[in-house]
Amino acid sequence: MATNRRIWLKHIGLGLAGIGLANVESFAAPAIPGLKELRNNDNAILLRSNENPYGPSPLARRALAGNLNISNRYNWELASQLISAIAKSNNVSDGNVLLGAGSTELLDLVSKYVSTEKGSYVIADPSYDYWTVTLDNSGLKKIKVPVTADKRTDLQAMSGAISQDTKLVYICNPNNPTGTICERELLVKFVAGVPQSTIILVDEAYLDFTKQQSLSNLITIYPNLIIVKTFSKIYGLAGARIGYALADRKTIDRLSNLQSSPDNSVSVLSRLAAMASLKDTRFIADCYSLNEAARQYTIDELKKLNLRCIASYANFIYFSLSDFKKDYFQLLKNNNILGTKIYEEQGKWTRITVGTMEEMKAFIKAIQ
Ligand SMILES: Cc1ncc(COP(=O)(O)O)c(C=O)c1O
Repeated sequence: MATNRRIWLKHIGLGLAGIGLANVESFAAPAIPGLKELRNNDNAILLRSNENPYGPSPLARRALAGNLNISNRYNWELASQLISAIAKSNNVSDGNVLLGAGSTELLDLVSKYVSTEKGSYVIADPSYDYWTVTLDNSGLKKIKVPVTADKRTDLQAMSGAISQDTKLVYICNPNNPTGTICERELLVKFVAGVPQSTIILVDEAYLDFTKQQSLSNLITIYPNLIIVKTFSKIYGLAGARIGYALADRKTIDRLSNLQSSPDNSVSVLSRLAAMASLKDTRFIADCYSLNEAARQYTIDELKKLNLRCIASYANFIYFSLSDFKKDYFQLLKNNNILGTKIYEEQGKWTRITVGTMEEMKAFIKAIQ
């Protein structure tokens, strides 16, 4: 019989006596002398995977460096502490939170959860779909719903694509790769209209780059609503692999029963880094503003080059290369810049991550 996660944590907690906890509370107030980008050794400009060029935050770096010596211990209680911190920051209860090694693990868990029976799933096209391999391998039929002409997720068409056998509908908000956002009011209506037998998976990986409120306040109303969030984007912890799901208590318990060691795929250091990041509100605010400025600069410059750009609510920009006369990908290569692929052949739409202002200037110079 599958172990209930609450009981499991309690059971594990019994063995904690004597294990010294890292002093999370001792992190000092943030002092950011001016954020500088962090580069890989090859000095390539990475505008490929929507990472935060400035992260981890100063407090997270201090937490990582200062706690190396407790990596010899499991320290399960830190998972509970992080769950509480996440619950507090999302205004939900501890029982509504499940941790994973990046939101990818949670997306995968949800896939396993819905793949026990045959049926279909609905996803916008294009959208973030690297994670759907489990759904595809389980034989679930993929129903792709094209985005609108202005590259928005077509909620009405997605509603219409849901049938009796639809196990899951996935909404990425803001949508990767288009950068568009669904109006919250429309999203709330959409959620209310989805039958209870269909899981609504809302991916809020990039919502921190907007002023829009999370759908987390709806999880207690709709047990079929699962929200996934990540520390990989604005929190700058992509390499630390930490994300979480928010859902109704029973849904979280069902998902956690699919993890062999619930909440424990995340390393002790990553848990500490995530907790420190949640406290580093100044870093998050700075990253928000810096992203906004570099994004606006890039959009303005791309428009000067007569390239069609979609207004972005994230840390990347979707634009069309159909009027670009040179070899865009060769120019990136020549300048040691990593971009990404063509997502839609029709219109030759591609995406560029918003890096630092300096990086975006180098990007524009490379393609001018
Ligand atoms: C929309 C979206 N969701 C989820 C992920 C996965 O993020 P992670 O597994 O690092 O949390 C990404 C990564 O780029 C993404 O763009």
